[in-house]
Amino acid sequence: MTVSSVTEQESPASVPDGDRPTVLDVRGLWKVFGQRADRVVGTPLAELDRAELKRTSGCVAAVRDVSFSVCRGEVFVVMGLSGSGKSTLVRCLNRLVEPTAGEVLLDGEDVLGYAGKRLRELRRHRFGMVFQHFGLLPHRRVLDNVAFGLEIRGVKKADRLARAQEVLELVGLAGFEGSYPDQLSGGMQQRVGLARALAVDPEVLFFDEPFSALDPLIRREMQNEVIRLHHEVGKTMIFITHDLGEALKLGDRILIMRDGELVQTGTPDEVVGAPADDYVRDFVSDVPRSDVLTLRWIMRDAAPDDPLDGPELSPDTVIRDAARTVLSAGRPVKVVRDGELLGVVTPAEVLEVIAGAGGQS
Ligand SMILES: Nc1ncnc2c1ncn2[C@@H]1O[C@H](COP(=O)(O)OP(=O)(O)OP(=O)(O)O)[C@@H](O)[C@H]1O
Ligand SMILES: [Mg+2]
Repeated sequence: MTVSSVTEQESPASVPDGDRPTVLDVRGLWKVFGQRADRVVGTPLAELDRAELKRTSGCVAAVRDVSFSVCRGEVFVVMGLSGSGKSTLVRCLNRLVEPTAGEVLLDGEDVLGYAGKRLRELRRHRFGMVFQHFGLLPHRRVLDNVAFGLEIRGVKKADRLARAQEVLELVGLAGFEGSYPDQLSGGMQQRVGLARALAVDPEVLFFDEPFSALDPLIRREMQNEVIRLHHEVGKTMIFITHDLGEALKLGDRILIMRDGELVQTGTPDEVVGAPADDYVRDFVSDVPRSDVLTLRWIMRDAAPDDPLDGPELSPDTVIRDAARTVLSAGRPVKVVRDGELLGVVTPAEVLEVIAGAGGQS
């Protein structure tokens, strides 16, 4: 099998994991900015691409007919170039931006119909948000910043400070309760932002490029922090980034946008192994494929003369992690799930991917 045939392999439909309930179900979501925004969806104007629509009507279709769902406990990444509609999409979900059309079902209920008290409750209790520019209150101590969401909610002072303290410890900031935001480094300020969002124990945590203002080392540390927190608190997270490395590292699944439209939704290995089009292929072209693709992408059917007494690995083993076993086994490695032999992998398949890493697609 050649590397290019790996690329062309059909990607399994990316549906949420059947074992996990769907938290958010987004259907046919549109956001059109402009004076005649409400006269676009459902008319021939909706057929125009973004540039044509802008030319003919002056409207900007920031989000165009996007549908996807997010499972409970998933880290769902939204990726795309600047202006592709990532922030608008995510702001439509938590109603910081009013969608033009579509449905956003949270636990099966359409939140677009919410108003007044229910809408406030949705934003304050059920959703949390971490922004790029931390949005901390400069005149308040770290502890009070973290307790802020609980204060708005009307939680008693002693209770909210106790909870804030607990979350500060969770994000590694114990000892800085009494500091003011400008006394902290960028990475520490973002930890405060993270703690503030976590303090209200939201159902879904949104991140809009939270680390893009941080230098690379701190950024890596914060990514690891998100992974650690996700393991500890198991929250559903929707994470915007334009950094593919970040998307691959954090995302259980990745949604890729271009000009307001959804181009592909898939697991990291799906977007790298089977990019939906040239735009995605371009995005992923520099990724070392052996770091992301799993054995399921390169295994072949066992031939009649293949010895089948080799070691066993799961189809989800990343090729890089399997390389040593496959290269030293001296016979085919069996790819097995639940006792079923799915295929075999030999050094030839592994070396082909490693040799083609980083470029071909
Ligand atoms: N309030 C607004 N009024 C008019 N147009 C807007 C508004 N907000 C966003 N847009 C337009 O919608 C499109 C999508 O913007 P959005 O901010 O969602 O992109 P993004 O993918 O988050 O970009 P970035 O990576 O730069 O943050 C852009 O063309 C932008 O100019
Ligand atoms: Mg944005």
